[in-house]
Amino acid sequence: MGRVIAVANQKGGVGKTTTAINLAAALAQEKRKVLLIDADPQGNATSGSGIQRSNDRKNLYHALITGEPVRDLVLPTEIPTMWVLPSDKNLAGVEIELSEAENRATILRGLVSEIKDYFHFIIVDCPPSLGILTVNGLTAADSILVPVQCEYFALEGVTELFETLTRLKRELNPSLAIEGLLLTMYDERTNLSTAVAKDLRDFYGTQVFKTVIPRNVRLAEAPSFGKPILQYDPRSRGADAYIQLAKEVISHG
Ligand SMILES: Nc1ncnc2c1ncn2[C@@H]1O[C@H](COP(=O)(O)OP(=O)(O)O)[C@@H](O)[C@H]1O
Ligand SMILES: [Mg+2]
Repeated sequence: MGRVIAVANQKGGVGKTTTAINLAAALAQEKRKVLLIDADPQGNATSGSGIQRSNDRKNLYHALITGEPVRDLVLPTEIPTMWVLPSDKNLAGVEIELSEAENRATILRGLVSEIKDYFHFIIVDCPPSLGILTVNGLTAADSILVPVQCEYFALEGVTELFETLTRLKRELNPSLAIEGLLLTMYDERTNLSTAVAKDLRDFYGTQVFKTVIPRNVRLAEAPSFGKPILQYDPRSRGADAYIQLAKEVISHG
């Protein structure tokens, strides 16, 4: 049975999509079958995985709204054991179209349960909000991975997220685990990065991944070539870090 990991943080620009793409690719390189679900209408996980934009292709929107089976929508990538369930701008409509639906929080869980046996890992890239799409991701997930950018107020953001998680667990998904907090865009030369890292480890202890993702320009360049870092520059520090992260995730069992 596959493990479903939601990559979520209500803040934008903290490294969710970068982590979703590159963790998925690194797990695939470790011989795991991986599905990356793009749950953000911006579609950056889709394009960053090398899937061309297309206006007439069905995507996660159709799975959520018209019940298209996920297995008919997933697309292969250049990596043999990595697939993508794409998103598109229309996915933004879900927030309104499902706002009155009684099952609005649990639709993705139902869809994922049909394909869970086929993959070792299902990674969900959530949008930067705590709206219906993110709630669906967290309700479908076995665990949440929280990228935390090394910047001021990072800790406040995490505290806020954990309050929401407490409520979500009570109401929708009691078994949701913390896969880990992941320090991203870490720059060991700045006092800010080391201070944020220390605060986070003091506060959350072993819930923080040992792996730290460095600020690495190659990670920022890769999406414009439609390639995960392991394809774009396998020797970069960014590639190294995501392989380490994949190993740590696998070791959680
Ligand atoms: N470790 C990193 N080093 C350098 N740039 C990064 C790193 N992680 C993310 N970025 C860049 O920062 C921006 C925001 O990252 P992204 O993954 O899209 O965040 P989110 O999905 O949380 O909004 C993007 O331009 C991305 O390329
Ligand atoms: Mg994103």
